[in-house]
Amino acid sequence: MKDLFKRLEDKAIANKQRIILPESTEPRTMQAADKILANGVADIILIGDATEIAAKAAELGLQNIGKARIVDPNDEQANEKYAQTFYELRKKKGVTLEDARKKIKDPLYLGCLLIKHGEADGQVAGAQNTTGNVLRAAFQVLKTAPGVSAVSGAFIMLMPEGSPYGENGIMVFADCAVIPDPDAKQLAQIAVSTNETAKTLAGISPHIAMLSFSTKGSASHEKVDKVVEATKLAKEMCPELDIDGEMQADAAIVPSVAATKAPGSQVAGKANVLVFPDLGVGNIAYKLVQRIAGATAVGPVLQGLAAPVNDLSRGCSPEDIYKTILLTCNQAIARH
Ligand code: ACO
Repeated sequence: MKDLFKRLEDKAIANKQRIILPESTEPRTMQAADKILANGVADIILIGDATEIAAKAAELGLQNIGKARIVDPNDEQANEKYAQTFYELRKKKGVTLEDARKKIKDPLYLGCLLIKHGEADGQVAGAQNTTGNVLRAAFQVLKTAPGVSAVSGAFIMLMPEGSPYGENGIMVFADCAVIPDPDAKQLAQIAVSTNETAKTLAGISPHIAMLSFSTKGSASHEKVDKVVEATKLAKEMCPELDIDGEMQADAAIVPSVAATKAPGSQVAGKANVLVFPDLGVGNIAYKLVQRIAGATAVGPVLQGLAAPVNDLSRGCSPEDIYKTILLTCNQAIARH
C-alpha cells in the first residue's frame, strides 16, 4: 500500500495539478489541504470566504493554507461568467439565469464550473456532502468523458500481506458506488472504464472477470444473459481488453476452480479486476472483502467523468482525504 501511494504522490509532485476543495472550512479537509501544500503535491483552490478560512486555519494551527487560491461563492460580479455557463448547460432542463446565479453559490457546483472553465483540474468533496450531491454537480456540469456513456465507481482493493489474489495483492472492483441497476451497455462501460483505472491508478495489468452466479452457461436467467451481453459489448468497444465472462467469483480467482468450471478461459483463475452485475452486489462485496478478509479499500474512484471529481466518506480522516487528492491528481494527469 505504501508503494501505491508513494508512486501516486511522486507522480503528482512531478506534474502539479490544481485541485478544488469546496468544503473549505471543514477541519479534516483543511488539514489534508495543509499537508498537500506543505509537500508541494498540488495547487489547492478553496471555495469560501477568505476571512473565515484564515480564522479556521489559525484555530487549527495550519501554516500552509495561505498558499491556496480562494474563490468566494458570494462574489456575484466575479462569478457571473460561471452562472452564464451553468445557464447555457442547463437551460434545456428549464434552468433560468436567475436559477443559475443561485446554484453557483453552492461550492460543489462552482468548483465543477471552475474546472469547466479550465481553471482547475479536479475536485474532491464529500466530508460534509452526500454522495448524491457530489455526483449530481459533476454530472450536470462536467458530464462524461468523450466516448463514455456512464460514470461508475471503482475501489482499488489492497489485499493483506501474503494473499494469493490480485497482482502483487492489488485488485480493482467495480461498480461499487454509482449505478444501482446497470443495463448491459452500462455494464460494458463499467468494464472498459475499470480497465483504465486498473492501469493508470492501480498500476496493474488488468484481467477482467464479468461476474455472475453462473459460469459459462451453468445457469440460465435474464440476469446471466445481461452479463454475457455486456462481455460481448465490452469486447466490441475495446477489442484489446483481457476480459471474460460470465463467471462466478471462485472461477474468476481460484485456478483450480477455473480449470474445472471455465477450462480454456484466459482470465478465469487469474482475474484481478472484478466487474459486478449490479451495485447491490458490488457495494456489499467490497465491504465484505474489506471487513472479513482485512483488505484495504481505496476509493471509490469515480471513473468516466470528463474531469476527475472524487467523493469522500463522511467518516473520512485527513489521511483519507490526502490520498483521495493523490488519486484525483493522477486521474487528471492521465487525462492530459
Ligand atoms: N453517469 C453519467 N451521468 C449520470 C449517471 C451516471 N452513472 N447517473 C445519472 N446521470 C446524469 C443523468 O443523465 C442526469 O443528467 P441530466 O440532468 O443532464 O439529464 C443527471 O445525472 C441527474 O440524473 P438523475 O437520474 O436525476 O440522477 P439522480 O439524482 O437520480 O441520481 C445518483 C444520480 C445520485 C448517482 C444515483 O444514481 C445514486 O444515488 N446512486 C447511488 C449512489 C450511492 O448511494 N452509492 C452508495 C454509497 S457510496 C459507497 O458506499 C462507496
